[in-house]
Amino acid sequence: MSLDLLIELAGGMDNICRILTPSNLVTVAVLDKHRIHTLPQDVTMTSVLGEWQLSMARGSICDEELRQVGQIIAEQQVRRAQAYLTPTASAYRPLWHISPPQGLLNDPNGFVYHQGEYHLFYQWYPYACEHKDKYWVHLTSSDLVNWDYRSVALTPSDWFDSHGAFSGHAVSQEDGLYVFYTGNIRLGENRDRQTTQCLAVSRDGRQFTKCGPVIRQLPPGVTEHIRDPKVFYANNEWVMLLGAQTTELEGRLAVYRSHNLTEWQFDGLYGDEIAQGYMWECPDTFELSGQRFFVFGPQGIKDANPHHTIGHQNRIYRMSLDEHNHPQLHEGWQLDAGFDFYAPQTAQTIDGRRVMIGWMGLPDEVDQPSCDDQWLHQLTMLREIHWEQGRLKQRPAQELLQLRQAPRSLLLNATVQDAMCKSYELTLDLQWGQELRLMVKGDQYVSLVADRAKGVLRLDRQHTDLREGDVIRELPLTSRCIALTLFADQSSLEIFINDGDKVMTARVFTSPDASGIVLLGGEVQATLYPLQAAKAPFRA
Ligand code: FRU
Repeated sequence: MSLDLLIELAGGMDNICRILTPSNLVTVAVLDKHRIHTLPQDVTMTSVLGEWQLSMARGSICDEELRQVGQIIAEQQVRRAQAYLTPTASAYRPLWHISPPQGLLNDPNGFVYHQGEYHLFYQWYPYACEHKDKYWVHLTSSDLVNWDYRSVALTPSDWFDSHGAFSGHAVSQEDGLYVFYTGNIRLGENRDRQTTQCLAVSRDGRQFTKCGPVIRQLPPGVTEHIRDPKVFYANNEWVMLLGAQTTELEGRLAVYRSHNLTEWQFDGLYGDEIAQGYMWECPDTFELSGQRFFVFGPQGIKDANPHHTIGHQNRIYRMSLDEHNHPQLHEGWQLDAGFDFYAPQTAQTIDGRRVMIGWMGLPDEVDQPSCDDQWLHQLTMLREIHWEQGRLKQRPAQELLQLRQAPRSLLLNATVQDAMCKSYELTLDLQWGQELRLMVKGDQYVSLVADRAKGVLRLDRQHTDLREGDVIRELPLTSRCIALTLFADQSSLEIFINDGDKVMTARVFTSPDASGIVLLGGEVQATLYPLQAAKAPFRA
């Protein structure tokens, strides 16, 4: 039987929303069951978790035929998503961070400078604040602050990515932008996971053409949890890093090698020396001042502090590669000691700085006040990473200076002062024993306590409208005073401590007019720059 006949029996191409290839079969999922025709014996119909699917033997149907169907599904998905590209009105919506117009945003993807502009993508589920089949949204920028929406670049349209075009990175080449991503497939009632590593290429930096999987099989020793390709060039070859889970359910790094970006050989699993968590997600790697680093998201990390209950974490390690590109991990640090910093990616700026952007959100949280306005999560602000005399420093990206408006001097004390906005940069030195409260209105506020007795800087958001997630983070500090540069943007706070020694990121949901600032335990001089809105990538 032909694929065309299966499509006809399914009620035509516009009734098909998914194509799958479970072992030796071709399966199509339909939108409207009533449009299915009477089926011959060699076509079976099943309901998989409420989705009606028709299957037949794959026979001699080749990848190219499947690709043509995938392309039509992609066009339908892009058309449907258009209606979700208009941003909803929302008091929580940031003025200069990237937020989804509607639906759920998660990881930043494909962050790279290519042919005269910066490219940035993000994981998106357009239709609800839920983690379902992911799309890639494409943005570009010339200044890393103002972003233009370009397209819905990838959709979960094909047999190799039908349940999500998952995270990955981009590589800039003379002949185009190469985007590597994970194809996520779920089969049957048990939603059995199948994973492929895929490539899509854009010749013009706008239109992306899927090339399909470049890695179809699992390497030995891992589960289907292997994803988020990072591709880079070292020692005369291409190297792909993947976050992976071993069959013993431990997080590891899988390494592949290639000479042409399309044919990949498995090299091995690495990371025994730091064994951490049950899965590693979203690897990234880069060099800073001659030192290579490795960034990833280990999952299932336990913390001795009873307030710190979230196992999805962020880490950066010093990494070395031998001449065969075998990685070894050395000492490591937490990148962000706040609540909401995950799956970061970095890019090199034209002038050679390393900038990082993360997902301001966490995998298991899907209910926050912004869901009432049909959107959830955002990307973090851009930070620069430096390696200075054996110390890691993270500082606000210098590009953000352009958002500053005329500064105001504030003498902070126990009397509530009105910042008159919720988008600002604030600098001050906090002394041990003092408490800074921001976004204050009545009994609503977020606080930073320099707790002398415990020797911690405590970020506390229990007096906010947060619906899910931890509310207290405690960061041990030994410095004599605590130099703070804080960035607020409507529903978030990013706190740089002691010239970028530490950073704490938090989503903070408070009433629209919760703009008060209070300092308890003394008087402190502060400088506040209101920050103007960046150009909105999406038009209302
Ligand atoms: C991290 C992550 C990635 C995956 C993506 C799916 O947040 O789970 O590992 O590729 O999200 O959206």
